[in-house]
Amino acid sequence: MNKGLFISVEGIDGAGKSTHVNLIREYLESKGKTVVVTREPGGTELGEQIRNLLLHSHNMHHNTELLLMFASRQELIDKVIRPNLEQGVCVIADRFVDASLAYQGAGRGIGMDKVYQVMNWLEPVLKTDLTFLFNVPLSVAFERVGKNRNKDRIEKESIDFFTKVQNAYLDIASKEPGRMKVIRTNRPKHESREEIIRHLDGLLKKN
Ligand code: TMP
Repeated sequence: MNKGLFISVEGIDGAGKSTHVNLIREYLESKGKTVVVTREPGGTELGEQIRNLLLHSHNMHHNTELLLMFASRQELIDKVIRPNLEQGVCVIADRFVDASLAYQGAGRGIGMDKVYQVMNWLEPVLKTDLTFLFNVPLSVAFERVGKNRNKDRIEKESIDFFTKVQNAYLDIASKEPGRMKVIRTNRPKHESREEIIRHLDGLLKKN
């Protein structure tokens, strides 16, 4: 399986990830690919209900948070990601498993081992072909998110929490440099754009 390309985008809240999803989509489409964009948590009817619970409930146990993230992910894999990849469609996932490693594994302190255990329990276990990690200094991300008056439960977390999340993302990138590419976004847009396209071209050449 895995005939379509599976690409994910990651980063702490305020890192500028969502603005680059369109660029990735447009570039792949310009190369003749059919593209589907997903988001997590969410992306299916059930997943969007889970998203609402995750972002707006009070007093949620960390394990509940982790399991709900994966419940939403399982629905998305089953209903959207796997069927599209099997048909040769490229999937751009606005967050995937790395988010659970960084936010729940590190940010919440659940630990990577536990997240991997839940991950390995999914059907089927999927790995992205390429993951972009959008990275900005924490102060910049905080200022961007701070402007949003309707912050959700996770966006309201402390700088200490986001420091752990950011460090965990960078740690994954240093361990898996072939799959995860770090893109700095506090610089002129055309520079990050060129870097993204270079990585996409590299992936397209291999497939
Ligand atoms: P979003 O703002 O990128 O749509 O993501 C919603 C929030 O959910 C964001 O604060 C990151 C968080 N999240 C996790 O904590 N763990 C996960 O596994 C995923 C997919 C998202």
